[in-house]
This record gives sequence, structure tokens and C-alpha cells, in this order.
Amino acid sequence: MNLTLQPNDISEVVEADRAHLWHHLIQHRQFETIDPRIMVEGRGMHVWDATGKRYLDAVSGGVWTVNVGYGRESIADAVRDQLVRLNYFANSAGSIPGSQFAEKLIEVMPGMSRVYYSNSGSEANEKVFKMVRQISHRHHGGRKSKILYRERDYHGTTITTLSAGGQPQRAAHYGPYTPGFVEVPHCLEYRSQYGEIDNYEEKAADAIEEVILREGPDTIGAICLEPITAGGGVITPPEGYWERVQEICAKYDILIHIDEVVCGVGRTGEWFGYQHYGIKPDFVTMAKGVASGYAAISCTVTTEAVFEMFKDDAADPMSYFRDISTFGGCTAGPAAALENMRIIRDEDLLANTTAMGDRLLHNLHELQEKHPVIGDVRGKGLFCGAELVSDRGSKEPVDEKLVQAVVANCMEQGVIIGATNRSLPGFNNTLCLSPALIATNDDIDRITETIDSALGQVFA
Ligand SMILES: Cc1ncc(COP(=O)(O)O)c(C=O)c1O
Repeated sequence: MNLTLQPNDISEVVEADRAHLWHHLIQHRQFETIDPRIMVEGRGMHVWDATGKRYLDAVSGGVWTVNVGYGRESIADAVRDQLVRLNYFANSAGSIPGSQFAEKLIEVMPGMSRVYYSNSGSEANEKVFKMVRQISHRHHGGRKSKILYRERDYHGTTITTLSAGGQPQRAAHYGPYTPGFVEVPHCLEYRSQYGEIDNYEEKAADAIEEVILREGPDTIGAICLEPITAGGGVITPPEGYWERVQEICAKYDILIHIDEVVCGVGRTGEWFGYQHYGIKPDFVTMAKGVASGYAAISCTVTTEAVFEMFKDDAADPMSYFRDISTFGGCTAGPAAALENMRIIRDEDLLANTTAMGDRLLHNLHELQEKHPVIGDVRGKGLFCGAELVSDRGSKEPVDEKLVQAVVANCMEQGVIIGATNRSLPGFNNTLCLSPALIATNDDIDRITETIDSALGQVFA
């Protein structure tokens, strides 16, 4: 396969990009002296850029998205077949793939019942916030309108999801923010806020209760949490944490909203991250891996009990969820999501994710023995992180520039890895790995061998 474009084609694309494109999450001054990177093709675990260079992608499209890998013709066929039949109708009516995917999704989410379609993770989360507010108005006389979120978690890019975000660098300069969102402390034991203690999981959960009591339980309607914090540092919760969080929420009648935008649809070796921890959510939101990036789709999934609260009085024109997402009616999303799910089942990708995730963690722990700069290794399934520190004793984070130098060195070597960025000032020091769920032993070993070499060079 020759994926190299002709020199003229490349320079035209690069110049058009340089002249007109505003890339996401990147400082553009650098493009005055270097070319922006342009990706042109993908197959399986690999992508090629416009210069023809091939990369092993250890971050599934940069942001944990292409779960079933690149170049899936069966998804493209399913989308095409659906588009020529019916591309769109507003979701006030149903569609064939919309109904079919909702049914399949609920089959793997015992206890959940209703699926609301929209386009992005941020939007899916905003739907929950609106639902919680409407429940407050209709069922609690305006009380229970506040929503808790956790330090280091991220829930999206809109002003309100930033208001519910625990990553100050993402939110800075975009205020004023939406009121009614209250932060609770993170649960990263490696960075314990309580010193070295035996019951960190209890302390971290009890810290949530302290916030609830401070604010007043009757002011709080819901808590929004990532099952495993992603961009805030790949934080796997300490064992026992979730049980206690659930007890606290039950005690104060607080609804649980799990943000599965990253963990959802196989990433951690279960269909959903919360399923590792026995959580019984009231809301689950998902986006990225739902259709592996073959079409834009997000889902806000609720229990039947939540759904019931929106049809209590059919005679009242205000008594239903008065919300629409125009592109929530695009049929490409659920068509792609159905085929994506079939692939995960038929290729046994949940089992592969567990096996390859174990290998990845094992390899990272070996690297930790070799490289003192790796302070902590965390992860579940094909969702892992390695936190870099300049001193293991003091846990001083390494300079962000060095973290980025490791990422750049891997890129040079033809392996794309990620790192936490613009998240917490001074703590953007965790390398992130989230290869597609189809990764093989060889892919995993190549990823960690490349990191081994990069760490050796950057911290020589
Ligand atoms: C946990 C989490 N929630 C929500 C979002 C927002 O998703 P989107 O970018 O699709 O709006 C992200 C994006 O990275 C995320 O990591």
C-alpha cells in the first residue's frame, strides 16, 4: 500500500491547513515554522500522515476513541446502507437503527432502561444536568438542584460542563461559570491528601459526605463522576471507594451520574467502567467509543425510575424533557454503533482488552523497576497511565516539557502515545495509553519498548 501523496498535493493541503484551519487544543504559533501534522489514512492499529510516515497508534485516535481500530469496512458499509435508506429524521420520531441500538445497549446495562441520543460527550453530560435540574423543579420544589463533581475529573468543553470540571487549566479564562456545581476531593491515593493512611478509600469517600453536609443534603440532586478518571491522570479508584460513595449517595438521596465517555464500550475490559465496581447508576453518559469515531454519537442512558419522573402529568405542557439535539436524529450514529458492538462481541474484544491490558500493566511495571522517573503505574484494561516524577521520595512531578519530550520522542519512533495536558497546573505529568481493543502482544510490547527507549533518551 503506497500511502504517500504527491509533493504538490501535500504542500497544497498543508498550506490550506496553515491558512484556514484552527486545530483543537494546540498553540498555533509553531506552525509558522513547522508544518501541521495531517493524518490521511488508517488500518487496524496504524495511521499514516501526509508525508507517508506510519505510526502505531497507542491512543486510539488521540483521545481514546477508535476502539475497534481503523479501516473497518463493515461499519462504513452499515453507515452507507443506512444513509441511502434514511439519513435523518428528528429524534422526536424513532428510527430503525436508533431503536435497535438502544435495545442492544440496554441488554449490556442491567438496571438501565432509556437511551437519549445526542452528538458529543459534553452534550450527553449536559442532558443529565438539565434532567437533574428539571427533577429539582418538578419533584423537589426547587431543592436538590446542585450537582457535585470531583477534582481532576473532566466532563466536557461547554461552559456548563467546564463548570462541572475538576481541571482548572481547562476551565481557566472561560468564566463566568454556571452556578450550582460543587467540587469534591479526588481519590488518587498516590497523591493522598490525608498523608499515609490505611483507609484512604474511606477517607476519600467520606470527603464527599463532608461536602454534602457543608452544602446541605437537601440542596444536592446528583453527583457526576468518571468511573476511572481519564484526562485528570488515569485514576483507578481505591478498592472499597465506590461502595462507600454509593452508601453516601443512598443516605442523602443523591442521584449517581457516571460519565463513561472514555471508559464506555469496552475500553476497560467490561462494557462499562462502572461494571467493575458494582455501581448502580441513575444516569450513564457515553460517546467516544460508542461508534469508534466512525460517526458522531453520544448517549445519555437513564433508569426507568428517572424516565418516569418526566411523564408524571401528560396534561401539563411542561411535564416532559423539553430538549432536542438536532443531530441526535442522524441515523449514521446508531447504525455505526450497532456494527461496532457486533465487532466487539464477535471478535471477543472484551476478553482481548483484559488480556492485553494485563500485559500492558505488567510491561509498565517492569519499566517502573528500570526507570526511577516512573513514580506510579495505574490502569484497567487498555486504559493505562504512568505518572512521571523527578524524585520518588518527594513525588515531585517532572517538568511538563520533559513529559512532552517523551511523547515527541515516541512519535519520532513511530508510536503515538498521550499525556495529561492542560489539566492541573504542575500535574500534567502522566503518560496515557489507550490502544485499540484489537491490540496484539506485539503491539503492546512495541509500545512499551518505545517508551523504554524514549525515557532512556529524555532522562539520560
Ligand atoms: C470523561 C469525559 N467526559 C466528557 C468528555 C467530553 O466529550 P466530547 O469531547 O465528546 O464533548 C470527555 C472528552 O475528552 C471526557 O474525557
